[in-house]
Amino acid sequence: MKKLKQFIWLAMMAFAVVVSSCTKEGPMGPAGQDGSDGKDGVDGNVTCLECHTSELQETVRFQFNSSAHKAGANAVDYAGGRSSCARCHSHEGFTEFAATGTVAANISKPSAWDCKTCHGLHEQFETADYAFRLGAPVTLIADGTTVVDEGNNNTCINCHQSRRNGSYYDSVTEAASYTRTFSGEDATLYLNAAVGPNGSVTDNGDGTLTVVFDVPTTHVYISSSHAGPHYGAQANTFVGTGGYTAESGDVFGAHADGCVMCHMGPASGHSFIPEHENCTGCHTSGAPTAAMDAIAARVQALGEALEAIHAVHYDETDGSWHPMYASITREQFQAFWNFKIVLDDRSNSAHNPVYVKALLAEAEATMGL
Ligand code: HEC
Ligand code: HEC
Ligand code: HEC
Ligand code: HEC
Ligand code: HEC
Ligand code: HEC
Repeated sequence: MKKLKQFIWLAMMAFAVVVSSCTKEGPMGPAGQDGSDGKDGVDGNVTCLECHTSELQETVRFQFNSSAHKAGANAVDYAGGRSSCARCHSHEGFTEFAATGTVAANISKPSAWDCKTCHGLHEQFETADYAFRLGAPVTLIADGTTVVDEGNNNTCINCHQSRRNGSYYDSVTEAASYTRTFSGEDATLYLNAAVGPNGSVTDNGDGTLTVVFDVPTTHVYISSSHAGPHYGAQANTFVGTGGYTAESGDVFGAHADGCVMCHMGPASGHSFIPEHENCTGCHTSGAPTAAMDAIAARVQALGEALEAIHAVHYDETDGSWHPMYASITREQFQAFWNFKIVLDDRSNSAHNPVYVKALLAEAEATMGL
């Protein structure tokens, strides 16, 4: 049955190709600058089968089954239905966003990624296109101005980008103070809160704590225990934007082929796992794991230094760092922000070694490391 379906499909395609190749071999490209013709269209028959064999489709499906996208385990349940999150957190959200530029309302039954999440319809048949949804250049959300054009990586970049820059928190021009009450485990955690020069901590004697955060204009208020660029800061790191460093935003040239090169290389395909075999074409003596481990150690040390000033705390139960409500100096906030970028980027510098090292160096200098 499957074979028959495929035969009919290919026969239809062959027909379409014959029809189009009777009329023309392929569109004429625009006249080149030297006055010569543009390149000819490619031969449709050969090109279709590069991607449309049943063998390849089966391989792709098999790989995709082990992908975090296919599982969507955390992301979809947690945020796939919420209109403000769904453009990145569910199939329905992403496809609606691709079609209309917005997600109008909450989605009642969000689902995980499918082939048709990233792939829509071919725009043209003459040249190889992967029928991407949102394959066009992406304007980064965090600053609303940086335009990123990374070819086949653009589809990924729509979702794997920061939601905000540090200026979202560091934007207050007048001194302020904020009062919060903490209970449960937080009542212990915030006993030594970073309250700013004239802030205070009052133990209410009933297991709750009242904390006044004093925020003069030299300080920045961390106003959420989720503060940070968001968990998917990869694209911003890749193009080197959003952190506090003098390092200019150049892409690390050697990895310019981007997400697809490492996450969809020969050893990964549609599993999106950055297998080390994808690195060895260039890193001939193996993926640079020692360099990446060294970055992980620096991130850990920075986390401990930020914990000492009560800007973050390490949660043993989930094994991760969490921001704390705090009033800290602007320099400390910038160190905190650089730390969060590297943490949320989660590549131990592979996404942009030069930039990540610059972010860490800046933060380490502030924290006296
Ligand atoms: C560079 C790879 C590539 C080439 C070359 C290619 N396609 Fe596709 N095509 C895809 C991808 C990826 C999809 C979407 C995912 C899927 O259905 O496999 C797709 C989807 C389609 C669909 C929609 C299928 C459906 O189930 O909705 C049609 C029809 C199609 N291609 C026809 C063609 C024809 C005809 C050619 C040759 C002229 C061609 N494709 C060349 C990658 C390619
Ligand atoms: C611009 C795209 C984008 C938007 C908008 C977005 N997220 Fe995310 N979010 C991501 C990506 C990408 C990941 C996965 C990052 C990874 O696994 O490295 C993620 C991961 C998460 C996680 C961690 C899940 C896990 O796997 O542990 C939580 C929690 C989360 N997002 C909550 C939200 C909420 C709540 C909203 C809406 C208020 C939201 N996100 C909006 C892109 C986005
Ligand atoms: C998260 C996004 C995403 C999803 C989901 C996805 N693809 Fe792809 N797919 C891509 C990208 C990106 C490429 C281009 C890879 C490259 O540039 O080498 C691609 C390439 C392809 C190709 C071209 C041949 C190849 O392997 O490079 C085929 C065929 C294809 N996809 C089919 C599928 C099918 C079938 C599914 C569902 C089982 C699927 N894709 C799901 C992003 C996706
Ligand atoms: C529609 C938004 C979207 C698109 C498009 C997308 N991703 Fe994702 N991706 C996510 C979210 C959200 C998660 C987290 C899934 C979860 O943990 O439940 C994720 C998970 C991942 C993971 C696994 C992370 C982990 O925590 O294990 C990798 C790697 C990844 N994506 C890479 C890519 C690449 C490469 C592309 C482009 C080919 C891409 N993604 C396209 C939103 C997207
Ligand atoms: C030079 C290779 C390389 C490039 C280019 C690359 N990645 Fe990665 N990526 C990695 C490695 C290595 C990791 C770390 C995986 C680990 O520690 O298990 C990673 C981690 C991730 C993660 C978190 C996965 C996890 O399991 O926690 C996501 C999501 C991700 N990358 C998405 C992207 C996106 C989106 C792009 C393009 C903007 C990209 N990557 C470009 C190699 C790369
Ligand atoms: C297209 C070639 C190419 C591929 C593929 C590639 N890299 Fe690289 N990478 C380089 C070059 C060149 C450098 C800079 C010189 C060096 O450090 O070896 C580099 C540097 C790095 C660094 C910084 C090393 C340091 O000393 O700080 C890391 C980390 C890294 N790559 C990780 C990866 C990982 C992980 C993969 C595979 C998932 C990968 N790269 C795939 C070319 C590549």
